[in-house]
Amino acid sequence: MKLRTIDGLDVAGKRVLMRVDFNVPLREGRVTDDTRIRAALPTMLELLGRGARLVLCSHLGRPKGQVVEELRLDPLVPVLRDVLNSALALEHRAPLDVFKSPDVAGEGARRTIASAGNNVVLLENLRFEPGEEANDPQFAAALAALADVFVSDAFGTVHRAHASTAGVAGLLPSAAGRLVQAEVEALSKVIDNPTRPLVIVMGGAKISGKLEVLQSLIPLADHICIGGAMANTFLAAQGHATGHSLVEADMLDAALAMLELAVQHDTQLHLPVDYRVGERFENPGRCELRNFDNFLDDDVALDIGEQTLKKYHEILWEARTVFWNGPMGVFEQERFSSGTLGIALTMAALADKGAVTVVGGGESVAAVNRAGVARRLTHVSTGGGASLEFVAGDALPGLKVLEA
Ligand code: 3PG
Repeated sequence: MKLRTIDGLDVAGKRVLMRVDFNVPLREGRVTDDTRIRAALPTMLELLGRGARLVLCSHLGRPKGQVVEELRLDPLVPVLRDVLNSALALEHRAPLDVFKSPDVAGEGARRTIASAGNNVVLLENLRFEPGEEANDPQFAAALAALADVFVSDAFGTVHRAHASTAGVAGLLPSAAGRLVQAEVEALSKVIDNPTRPLVIVMGGAKISGKLEVLQSLIPLADHICIGGAMANTFLAAQGHATGHSLVEADMLDAALAMLELAVQHDTQLHLPVDYRVGERFENPGRCELRNFDNFLDDDVALDIGEQTLKKYHEILWEARTVFWNGPMGVFEQERFSSGTLGIALTMAALADKGAVTVVGGGESVAAVNRAGVARRLTHVSTGGGASLEFVAGDALPGLKVLEA
C-alpha cells in the first residue's frame, strides 16, 4: 500500500489539522500512559520544524455524540505540553504552549486558533459531536474550515470511517503522518511476502472478535500458536475437558472450521497442551498445573502451562517473522503471567537475532511494556482493532483516503 506522505505537503505558514489518537487511559482525571501522545511526536516535531501551525484533534473514549465531562481533553494538555517541550528542548528549539479549544469545531475553536499564534491548539473531544462517527459531510466541512491542510497520524482509528479519519481528507490537501507511515510499513512486513517461517501468536478471551483475522492469517502463516481463553473454545470443540473455563459455546463450529482451514492450507495450528488453573476468574485462589488428563470440573484455565510455553518457544525460535496479538492468560495477576511474559521475552530474543517481531496493539502491548522489552521489538503497534483489521487485509477507510 502506497500512501501520500507529508513529504509532498506544503505546510510552511499553514494551519495543519492533524488527527491524532490520544485515546489514552485516564485515572481520576490524570493520564496514566502517554505512549500514544509520544507516538505522535515525530510528525508534530517535523511539521512544526517546517513552519506549520498545528491544530490537533482526537477522540477520547466513546461519548457517543454527547458532551461527557469526564471525557474532555483538558487532562491531556499538561502531558502534551511536557512531552512536546522536552522533545523541542532536546533539539534546542524554543518551547511552545498548548491551547485547548472549549469546543470541537465551533466558534470557540475558531477563536482559540486565531489567538494561538504559532502555539499548538488541541480541539475538544471529536466524539462529542454526533457528526464525527456518522462521518457527516457538514461536520467534516466544519473541521476542514479550521485549517489549510490535513494530516492523519491516528493509526489507532484508521479502521473507523469517521469525519476526522475519512471525510475531512477529501476536503483539504491531505497526507499520512510518520506514525501512520511507520505502522503501515511494519504491519505490511507481516502480510506482504513475509520472510518465512511466519508465526502468528494469537491470544485473548474470545475467538468471536478474531475470526476474520484468523481466516485471513491461517492461509498465510506457517504456524499459529493459540493461547488465552480463546484456546479453550478450540479445545472444547475437540472434546477436551475445560472445567468451568471461559468457552464460547456458540463458536464451537467456527473453531472446528478454523482447524479444518488450517489442515487445508497445511498450516500448523497449535493449541495448549497444559494450563495453569485456578478456582475462578476473579479470585483464583489456587494456582496449579494441569494437562488434559487431570483437568478438574472446578478448574478454570488462567494461563498456558510450562509444556505449552516450551513448545511455543521452540516454534518461535525458528521464526523469521512473528505477529503477536492477545495475552496467553490473565497476566495482570503475577501467578498467571508466565505464559504471556514468556512470549514477550522470546519475541525480544528473536528480534535480537534479526527476526521481524511485530506486536499488534491492546493488551499484548501492555505485556511487552511490563516485560520491559518493547524497545527491542521491530514494531509495537499503537492500534488494537486497526492493526488486526490491517493484517486481516481489510480496506481501512482512514488509509484508503490517503492512498497515493
Ligand atoms: C483504540 O483505542 O483502539 C482506538 O483509539 C479506537 O478507539 P475505538 O475502538 O473507540 O474506535
